[in-house]
Amino acid sequence: MNPYLPFPMSVEKSVAETDDGSIRTISLSFARNGDSEAFSFRAGQFAELSLLGTGEAPFGIASSPVDPGLLDFTVSRAGLVTSELHNLETGDRVGMRGPLGNGYPLEELEGRDVLVVGGGFGFSTLRAFTGYALHPDNRGLFGGMTVVYGARNPGLLLYRKDLLEWGKRDDIDLRVTVDTPDGSWAGRTGVVPAAVRELRIDAGRTTALVCGPPAMIRYTLPVLNELGLPPERVFLSLEMKMKCGIGKCGRCNIGEAYVCTDGPVFSLARLSTLPGEY
Ligand SMILES: Cc1cc2nc3c(=O)[nH]c(=O)nc-3n(C[C@H](O)[C@H](O)[C@H](O)COP(=O)(O)OP(=O)(O)OC[C@H]3O[C@@H](n4cnc5c(N)ncnc54)[C@H](O)[C@@H]3O)c2cc1C
Ligand code: FES
Repeated sequence: MNPYLPFPMSVEKSVAETDDGSIRTISLSFARNGDSEAFSFRAGQFAELSLLGTGEAPFGIASSPVDPGLLDFTVSRAGLVTSELHNLETGDRVGMRGPLGNGYPLEELEGRDVLVVGGGFGFSTLRAFTGYALHPDNRGLFGGMTVVYGARNPGLLLYRKDLLEWGKRDDIDLRVTVDTPDGSWAGRTGVVPAAVRELRIDAGRTTALVCGPPAMIRYTLPVLNELGLPPERVFLSLEMKMKCGIGKCGRCNIGEAYVCTDGPVFSLARLSTLPGEY
C-alpha cells in the first residue's frame, strides 16, 4: 500500500471535551468497505489526519484497540488544521494515514504493575492504553494499575465518563488532580508530580508510561527516579513536530532517531543516549 495514501474516513461525532471547547474528541468510521477489518493498531500509536485544501497533522489514537468500530482523536485547537478539525460535522470526510509509530511496549508491560501518568491532550493515548488494559480479555495480563491524571482546572478534564467508570473499579488506583479547583471540585488539588510523589509503589515490579505537557514531564521524571524507577522502565511519548510520519522527510529527528518511526514512545534509557532536543 502507498503509505502516503490516506484512508477515507467519515465523522460520526464530535464532542467538546473541555468546558471552554478548546479540546474536542472526533470519532471517525472507515468510509470504504473492508478498511475497518484490515486496520489494527496498538495503544500509543498515532495517525496523520488530513483535510483537503487545508493540510495534515499527527494525532494520537485516543480510543482503545479493543473498542470496536470508531477511532477517536482528541484535538486541541492550535492552528490551521486543528481549527478546521474542530469545525467538522457528522458526515464530513477526513483522510487518515496510520497507524504510525511504535506504540506503548506491551511486551515490557505484561506481567508488571503499570503506572500511567498523564496531563493535557497527552492523556489521549494513555486513555487508549488504560482502556486496553482494563478490558476483561486483557486485565489479567497486567499487575496493579495506577493512573495519575491532571488538568489545570476541572473544566479542562478530559474523558469524564471514563474517569467515573474507572473510579468505580477496585482493580485500578485512579488519582485525578487539578492545579486550580473551582467551587464544584471535591477531588484532589495539586500538580501531577506531587500526586505521583504520594504513591507507594513497588518499584521493582512497576513500569511507568508518561505523556503530557513539557512542564509536567520535567517535574515528574525526577519524582519517578525518587520512587526508584530505573530509566529502562520509564517510557515517554514525545510530540515533536512532524511532517511525513514515516521516516522520509527528516523533520522529527533527535540525533539518529526518528520520532515518527523509532517513537513516539521511548524509554528514558534510550533518550539518554540521544541529544536533549525534545
Ligand atoms: C505523535 C504526535 C501526536 C500528537 N497527538 C496529538 C493529540 O492527540 N491531540 C492534539 O491536539 N495534538 C496532538 N499533537 C500535536 C498536533 O499534531 C499539533 O497541534 C498540530 O500539528 C497543529 O497543527 P495546526 O495546523 O492546527 O497548527 P499550525 O498552524 O501548524 O501551528 C499552530 C501552533 O501550534 C504549534 N505546533 C504545531 N505542531 C506542533 C507540535 N507537534 N507540538 C507542539 N506545537 C506544535 C506551532 O508551532 C504553532 O505555534 C501530536 C503531535 C505528534 C507529533
Ligand atoms: S516526520 Fe518525516 S521523518 Fe519523521
